[in-house]
Amino acid sequence: MKIALANDHTAVEYKKEIIAWLEEQGYEVLDLGTNEPISTDYPIWGEKVALAVVNGEAELGIGICGTGLGISLACNKVKGIRACVCSEPYTARYSRLHNNCNIICFGSRIVGPEMAKMILHEFLTTEFEGGRHERRVNEIMEIEGRNL
Ligand code: RB5
Repeated sequence: MKIALANDHTAVEYKKEIIAWLEEQGYEVLDLGTNEPISTDYPIWGEKVALAVVNGEAELGIGICGTGLGISLACNKVKGIRACVCSEPYTARYSRLHNNCNIICFGSRIVGPEMAKMILHEFLTTEFEGGRHERRVNEIMEIEGRNL
């Protein structure tokens, strides 16, 4: 499975361990940057990872900024994206099972790399349950269409 990953300056070193672990697990990682330890704006990186997912360059995406919040907000502005912020594995699991999230975000200043790996394990190995959740996810996406 191919996973797109983008981050701001807060995660340049941090994400190296995450990418190494993802590759060990057999995922192919599309690293969209930044790889420069220079202050940058998280919306740039949120849009990049979101576009990679909606354009089918990757199946799922990962966004990392200091808190995970800014980059998730940016991701969610791209039509077709359902990005969540997770700081623990339970929410990550349900973000797939019930919400069919296609991008997961977390904070490099909040979540240590070992917890990040547990979060990612749940997110990347859990399938959407469908059924009643499909209707609810469709209702979310219909809001996009009504509010252009
Ligand atoms: C950068 O200082 C910080 O604001 C950013 O990484 C992120 O946490 C924003 O939501």
